[in-house]
Amino acid sequence: MPTRSCTSCPAKRVVVHGGESFTRDHNAPRDTVRGMLAALGVDTSCDDTGVGIVDLETGAILANRVAQQDDIHAAFGGVVPERASRQHLAVIDATAEAALHEAGVTRAEVALVGATYGPGLVGALLVGLSWAKSFAWARGVPWLPVHHLEGHLAAAAPDEPQRHLALIASGGHTSLFLVEPHGERITLGQTLDDAAGEAFDKVARQLGLGFPGGPALSRLAEEGDAQAVDLPVPMQGKSGFDFSFSGIKTAVATRLERDPNLRHADVAAAFERVVVQAIVSTVERAADTHGVDTVVVAGGVAANARLKARLAASPLEVHVAPMALATDNGAMVALAARARKHEATMTEWSKDAVAYEPWASG
Ligand code: KG4
Ligand code: ZN
Repeated sequence: MPTRSCTSCPAKRVVVHGGESFTRDHNAPRDTVRGMLAALGVDTSCDDTGVGIVDLETGAILANRVAQQDDIHAAFGGVVPERASRQHLAVIDATAEAALHEAGVTRAEVALVGATYGPGLVGALLVGLSWAKSFAWARGVPWLPVHHLEGHLAAAAPDEPQRHLALIASGGHTSLFLVEPHGERITLGQTLDDAAGEAFDKVARQLGLGFPGGPALSRLAEEGDAQAVDLPVPMQGKSGFDFSFSGIKTAVATRLERDPNLRHADVAAAFERVVVQAIVSTVERAADTHGVDTVVVAGGVAANARLKARLAASPLEVHVAPMALATDNGAMVALAARARKHEATMTEWSKDAVAYEPWASG
């Protein structure tokens, strides 16, 4: 039986059982070591290199390492795809190594691999997808391609599947789905122009905040008076469940032009108020129309405190991804792969990265 040392922790001796079964020796007696099978998930869809590890049996998150690239893109005010791909390539090995080490999981204990194949930046996706496929192939374990939105929602999904609405609000997507208990998904609405996170980022830029703008704008909003600046509520009076945020971006620009002395904190708070109101009232209308009382909310904007508070005050049962799982990460992909582990394969290696692919019908 081959043995080797964990590269990041020389004290940890690893006993490899041909990649199928395993045991390990953390310098502890064998019978005190918990037999662990883990799922490893990778997301490199945009500008974060995410590698997460979850317990295959319980779904507990053992590690969730995200190597952020904000500094690399900040000067450009947005993600530069080629820079993102190169940075993923530079850090993915170390990020995975750190995740395994933090989880206390050896390579031999990884029994399932998941990777985001799209939608996203194709060059960036290719790095994580190829890495994950290579890892699974080399270890002789099954793997699964995961849709990015499936990953986001896996981070927030209730244990008991029930008919529910799923809202994704991120930098690239704003979509509302109706999800049936057996998994059928119907698109109820999506953004007609900017995604919600994109609107946060663009307005943050108008306010001279850094990139990504959502968290910075939200922090500034805490110091502002949300009623001090009058802004139109997006999509007000509209029927259907599509979203549109480009109008509010223009409204903020016009307002700032007209009155350059406005307190930026007040503008941030008012912007956040109307965007959150637009999202929540659309979700509430959809829930009413479709007779649903549960909503799952995921994506970077799900980290927004005002959105979470407003949803919590609604009559809906709300499942929101915890903060660390709201923005792009690898653990959400590992969770999605775990939920569909029976579909994992050791033979289908041809799955390619895609820039765009809808997640639901309708
Ligand atoms: O899901 P995500 O990490 O990446 C995409 O798949 O797009 O979402 C990133 C987006 C960015 O636009 C960021 O500004 C926004 O989520 N975001 C927020 C907050 N945290 C992240 N927007 C509003 N409030 C926040 N606290
Ligand atoms: Zn995302």
